[in-house]
Amino acid sequence: TIEGIVAREILDSRGNPTVEVEIGLDDGTIARAAVPSGASTGAFEAIELRDGDTERYNGKGVERAVANIEDRIVDELIGYEASEQRLIDQRMLDIDGTPDKSALGANAILGVSLAVAKAAAASAELSLFRYLGGPNAHVLPVPMMNILNGGAHADSNVDVQEFMIAPIGAPTFRDALRSGAEVYHKLKSVLKKKGLGTGLGDEGGFAPNLPTNAAALDLIAEAVEAAGYRLGADIVLALDVAATEFHSDGAYVFEGAKKSSEEMTDYYAKLAETYPIVSIEDPLAEDDWAGWATLTAALGDKIQIVGDDLFVTNPQRISRGIAERAANAVLVKVNQIGSLTETLDAVDLAHRNGFRCMMSHRSGETEDTTIADLAVSTGCGQIKTGAPARSERVAKYNQLLRIEEELADAARYAGASAFPRYRS
Ligand code: PGA
Ligand code: ZN
Repeated sequence: TIEGIVAREILDSRGNPTVEVEIGLDDGTIARAAVPSGASTGAFEAIELRDGDTERYNGKGVERAVANIEDRIVDELIGYEASEQRLIDQRMLDIDGTPDKSALGANAILGVSLAVAKAAAASAELSLFRYLGGPNAHVLPVPMMNILNGGAHADSNVDVQEFMIAPIGAPTFRDALRSGAEVYHKLKSVLKKKGLGTGLGDEGGFAPNLPTNAAALDLIAEAVEAAGYRLGADIVLALDVAATEFHSDGAYVFEGAKKSSEEMTDYYAKLAETYPIVSIEDPLAEDDWAGWATLTAALGDKIQIVGDDLFVTNPQRISRGIAERAANAVLVKVNQIGSLTETLDAVDLAHRNGFRCMMSHRSGETEDTTIADLAVSTGCGQIKTGAPARSERVAKYNQLLRIEEELADAARYAGASAFPRYRS
């Protein structure tokens, strides 16, 4: 039974404030959760409440969200069983009363929602992934490691936001993570040797200036080979283009030229002929529904087409995407929708309709590792949580190592089965 809830303002990985929540139960259980924050946020995301008081943290303080938890949520939730996740989340949605959680703030609601789940799991003496996923939770996701950062996450001239490696050929998660870390270190040597920058972007990947976006893939290919792995078999590639960021007045301003969605689609088709790309996220802008449908018809049999800003983990937008065949996969971010129950509903909706899901961090993160457990509990088979470096990123990968260890012989690494469309 929930006995007390405490909220506070803490810092995220970019040094911006975010919400942390602690929940105490009558059996002595205490659980804690922290809320992530995006930079290339979709226009249709639930509202992250910021104070706007420029005297503190450039207006980014979250004291109002913290106060909303203390003044408007705590009293309403005292006495609930922590296992009543769906009722508790619904109660908070009712108190909020808006479609975008702008009254209480999605950051307030999500912090409580995640802490409730962790408290219930701890009280039942279960790991979070087992509490949420039950006995069938046994699939370790492919880590989609973002080793070269561009777009809104870097100060470089590279348009594509994320260049990821996916070690699909590894036998276990642990081996997959090792190969990713080895390639990451080789990439640093390759960049140094060529006199390119080795500074990092927001998600821990390198952020050099490059002549083209394809040049990033060439550098990664070189690093993969230098680390002793076979590109296209052991390790394949994935992109998050985050195209909304460079879309304006109906055109994509890419590599210095204005392009239509058809021209972007042709560009991706050519790129996928040259490089073993299994997944492309946000290849087009968040409101270009027709362009997405045409692109998915053209590329979707071979490549996973992932909607992030397009879907914002919102069941209504996912339903439209399913009806219009606008993509074939959903990026899942807990704070885009703002409660655990709705996140699980979004994953269910996607899976029931043959869409894949990729569990995801945000570019602003904390030491909270909930998404690692969610990736295993939902059996989604894929997680992206940045480079295999920097503690707020590796906290999630390290949690997956612990889960794999706990599952022991029952663990299965998703590997190539996460990308059924891809054939090397
Ligand atoms: P964000 O980036 O957290 O800044 O939105 C991650 C992504 O676009 O997937
Ligand atoms: Zn994205």
